Amino acid sequence: MIRNNIVNKFRDLPTPFYYYDLDVLHSTCSKVKEESEKSGFSIHYAVKANANPRILEIIASYGFGADCVSYNEIERAMECGFSPSIIVFAGVGKTDLEIESALKARIACFNCESIAEIEVIDSIAARLKTKATIALRINPYIEAHTHKYITTAIAESKFGISTRELKDVLDRISSLGNIELEGIHFHVGSQITRMSVFRSLCSRVNELQEWFSSQNIDLKTINLGGGLGIDYNNPDKMPEFDEYFTLIRELVRIRPGQRIHFEPGRSIVGQCGSLITKVLYIKKGRNTTFAIVDAGMTDLIRPALYQAHHKIQNLTSNGKTGKYDVVGPICESSDTFAKYIELPETRRGDILAIRSAGAYGETMVSGYNLRKAPGVVFSDEL
Ligand code: LLP
Repeated sequence: MIRNNIVNKFRDLPTPFYYYDLDVLHSTCSKVKEESEKSGFSIHYAVKANANPRILEIIASYGFGADCVSYNEIERAMECGFSPSIIVFAGVGKTDLEIESALKARIACFNCESIAEIEVIDSIAARLKTKATIALRINPYIEAHTHKYITTAIAESKFGISTRELKDVLDRISSLGNIELEGIHFHVGSQITRMSVFRSLCSRVNELQEWFSSQNIDLKTINLGGGLGIDYNNPDKMPEFDEYFTLIRELVRIRPGQRIHFEPGRSIVGQCGSLITKVLYIKKGRNTTFAIVDAGMTDLIRPALYQAHHKIQNLTSNGKTGKYDVVGPICESSDTFAKYIELPETRRGDILAIRSAGAYGETMVSGYNLRKAPGVVFSDEL
């Protein structure tokens, strides 16, 4: 919730800016810690969701590891207090330089997506006279029932190794001298709100575990990725961590000594952030009223790219409600935050909050139209 005393302080600040409520972040991290510890699960926060240094420092202080997808993310995570021994490195296109830097930094594990990549990691590790610990990202072929751009485990996905190829992958690994296979990794998609998707994932994991046993391979880790959705209609609602972890604890047949890893991103940081913007103009359209605001798709691309819904609140009006299209200043029709939504009477100068913007907001900012990056304000600075 954004309280009135805070709104008064917003009036003096240049807009647009990301506002991070650190109390929300702390309570989310505490909840994740409590629920995951109940089951003995390990958390690696997905840095791509929000890589703001202060946010990362807080998340690191809970003892979570980090899931990174570039060496720059690894470096940022280390600077913010994540030990390399709990950093994993994922992604279909790691460059040679990134692999070399990650090996030198002694990160915990590379989540690998192809034989070609494993061979390159092996040769770089050999040159550095070290060994690389890897996990195999497997495509479990599960429909995530989310937006198609963030669905990652169907037949046409570029992600993961096909189950048909697994035998060849194991044969190849056994001939490589500098690779140690530690476990398997999955990530079926993001903003998943149907628990049935995770149920299907658990049964695939159990089947695959049987198969690895039949090949005499002991898996030390099973990494189930991220994906737990948040409720964009209820920005003050805690994600369903208890239901999620309980389901996995009950359904995955965990072997003795085996560790279960998770890589939540959105569910940790989504609800702590709001994009705060000012109304520049009100303009009558043929069928609607436009509230033209000073934030655009360059500041928060999710509505334009995924038709994502973010709840919008007018923090400075309690007038009679009407219908508005909330749009930005960018020269694209997709620069629309919401269409035909109900807001109290909205005027030039009003301050709007675009809620649940803590995940994939600030990290996806662009400079299109030569726009400046939005500001950042933390609740403890006000
Ligand atoms: N692990 C892997 C391998 C991933 O690819 C991702 C997200 C995560 C973990 C974290 O997933 P989460 O818990 O945040 O769902 N920009 C999009 C989301 C892209 C997600 C990419 N991968 C959006 O704004 O909805």
